[in-house]
Amino acid sequence: MNAEDPNLCLSASSPDLLSDASHLASGPIAVFDSGVGGLSVLRHLRALLPAEDLIYLADQAHVPYGPRRASEIQSFSRSITQFSLDRGAKMIVVACNTATAAALDDLRATFAHLPFVGMEPAVKPGAATTRSGKVGVLATAGTFESQRYADLMARFAQGVALYENPCNGLVPLIEAGELDGAETRTLLESCMRPMLEAGVDTIVLGCTHYPFVLPTIHAIAGPNVRIIDPAPAVARQALRVLREHGLLAPAEQQGSIQAYTSGDPERLAQMSETLLGFELRVRGFCWDGLELDRAED
Ligand code: DGL
Repeated sequence: MNAEDPNLCLSASSPDLLSDASHLASGPIAVFDSGVGGLSVLRHLRALLPAEDLIYLADQAHVPYGPRRASEIQSFSRSITQFSLDRGAKMIVVACNTATAAALDDLRATFAHLPFVGMEPAVKPGAATTRSGKVGVLATAGTFESQRYADLMARFAQGVALYENPCNGLVPLIEAGELDGAETRTLLESCMRPMLEAGVDTIVLGCTHYPFVLPTIHAIAGPNVRIIDPAPAVARQALRVLREHGLLAPAEQQGSIQAYTSGDPERLAQMSETLLGFELRVRGFCWDGLELDRAED
């Protein structure tokens, strides 16, 4: 446990406790999610921005975020942002559709000088390219219920029929490493069958966990359905924002990655090997008031 290092303990913070330090190009980019999902974004950031130091934060003590109240996710997100700032972060990538929907506006208002990149289901490109006029969206309940999603539909999905499914239970299966087992396949079939029968030709992945079951999604959808993962676009947006703010790391630098989890560091290190093809260095962080004696420094 990290008792000797109080800096690794977070409490759900109120805005007046938060600092907004100035950020330097030499600082890392912080990338956070409720769990392993954001690694599907991290891998694109790594590929596009190899000179950048990255820190990855997985709030696995609280995963899944999907069924949680927006106010709770805002509070977690503020604390994780502050934790990242304390480690010199120059930009935050909210690699979680659910946290973006619940907390991005709040984060931008709270940390006014810090650049954020969020993500949302790729309804815009889905609606722009569908030929059947029918698009499937797989995202969490929290994302579907959000104002941000309602705005997205109103702006970009006029004249397009959206078929939504929250895939309840899929995030915990992915967290458990069940990427291609019978249970995952059965669950995905039941989520996707209605939209496929309705005639969607495009399915948008609106949860960062879901790209890790892409082979199963492709197998169920068949070759004529286009699947859109917004992660490459998020990485390109991160590059644009860094450039605009003059925060790009020197190109000759070799970037590092340090991960933190409020769950089990050893388990996340193992999962990263499976999901990314290399093992992350992982440290634990804890939440004040939560018993997390699994966390290791
Ligand atoms: N990976 C997240 C997302 O993009 C959250 C999943 C969850 O924790 O429910 O929405």
